[in-house]
Amino acid sequence: MSTQVNRRNFVKTIIGSAVALSIAPQAFAQYGPIPGKILLRYNENPYGPSPEGLKAGAEAAAVGAYYPETIESDLRTAIATRNSVAIENMVLSSGSNEALHAAMVAYGKQGKVLMPSLTYDGHVAYAKRMGVEFLQVPLDKDMSIDLDAMAAAVDDSISLVYICNPNNPTGKALDGDRLRAFCRAVGKKAVVLVDEAYNEVTDDPEYTSMLDLVREGENVFVTRTFSKIFGMAGYRIGYGIGHPDIAKLVGGHIMGSLNTVGMATALASYQDEEFIAFSRGKIIEGRKMVNATFRRNGIEPLPSQTNFVYADIGRNATELADKLAARNILIRGSYKGAANYSRVSMGKLEDLEEFDRVFTEIY
Ligand SMILES: Cc1ncc(COP(=O)(O)O)c(C=O)c1O
Repeated sequence: MSTQVNRRNFVKTIIGSAVALSIAPQAFAQYGPIPGKILLRYNENPYGPSPEGLKAGAEAAAVGAYYPETIESDLRTAIATRNSVAIENMVLSSGSNEALHAAMVAYGKQGKVLMPSLTYDGHVAYAKRMGVEFLQVPLDKDMSIDLDAMAAAVDDSISLVYICNPNNPTGKALDGDRLRAFCRAVGKKAVVLVDEAYNEVTDDPEYTSMLDLVREGENVFVTRTFSKIFGMAGYRIGYGIGHPDIAKLVGGHIMGSLNTVGMATALASYQDEEFIAFSRGKIIEGRKMVNATFRRNGIEPLPSQTNFVYADIGRNATELADKLAARNILIRGSYKGAANYSRVSMGKLEDLEEFDRVFTEIY
C-alpha cells in the first residue's frame, strides 16, 4: 500500500511540477522566443496556449509513457461535433502543414496543382520533391486571389486547386459567397483545397468558411490549425475536413500519429471559450495598432483579416526588415515578386508599441 501511496505522490509531484513549468515558460526560454528579440515574423500568437490547455497538457505529459489512444478519438469527435461533420470527414495532422503536404501528394499523382502566385507555400517544396507539378495564377490588381482567372485555368490537367482564405501574405479574405460559387463550379473538375488557417480571426468566420460546402458533399477539403488563434504553433496540431472520399485519400498520406500532450492541450483549448474570445480580441487589437502605425507613416496597409498586416511601404521590405532586426525586432523581408511589401505579425500588444516606436524612427 505504501508503494501505491508513494507512486501516487510521485505522479502528483510530476503533474504539479509540469503545471508549474507550463505556467513559467521562462524555464524553457531556450526553446521559445529569442531573449531580447521581438518576434513579428511567423504569424505566431504569443497569447497562447490557453490556461486550460496548459493544464491538460501537463497532466497528459505524466502519462507520456503510453501510446495515444482515446485522446485521438476525443479530439476528432470534438472537432467533428463542433463543425457538424462525421468522423469520416476528418483528418488529424502534424500542424495543418502535414494535411496540406498529404493533399498535395495524394492529388498531385493525378494531375497538377493550381495555386495563386503569391500565397502560402510552406507545402510546396516537399510536394515538388515528391514530383508534384504546380501551375500559378497571378493575383488581381488589388492583390486579391483572382478567382475568375483561377477558374479559367482549370482544365483536365488540374487535379487540385489551392485557395488560402484569408490569403497569406496579403491578409485579404475573399467574399464567402463568391468563393462558394467558385468551389461549386470548379469542384466539378478538381478538388478545391481551402486553407483556413486564419479563419477564426476573420470578420465573419462562418460566412468566410467553406465548411458548409463540405456538409453539402461538395468536392472541397478545408484545413485548419491550432497554431494561430489557439497560440499552439509549437505543438504541431492541425486538421482537415472534407468529403469522406477526400479525407480517406488524404488521410492515407499522413505519415504518423500525433502526440498525447499536443492533442490533450488542443482538446482543452478547443473548449476554452473564454480563451478563444480573449485571443481573438488581442489579435484584432494588435491588427488595429499595426494598421495605425502604417497609416501614421503615410502607408495604407491591405485590409487584413488575419494575425498579420501586409503593406506596400514604398521601399525595399528586406532592407527595412534588416534595419528593424538590428533593433531586435524581427519581421518578414520581401516575398518574391513583391519587393516593397512588408508583413508584420501580431505580437504582444507591448511588442507592437515598441514596433510602432522603432518603425516610425527608422522609416
Ligand atoms: C496559410 C497558412 N496555412 C498553413 C500554415 C501552416 O501552419 P501549421 O502547420 O502550423 O498549422 C501556415 C503557417 O503559417 C499558414 O500561414
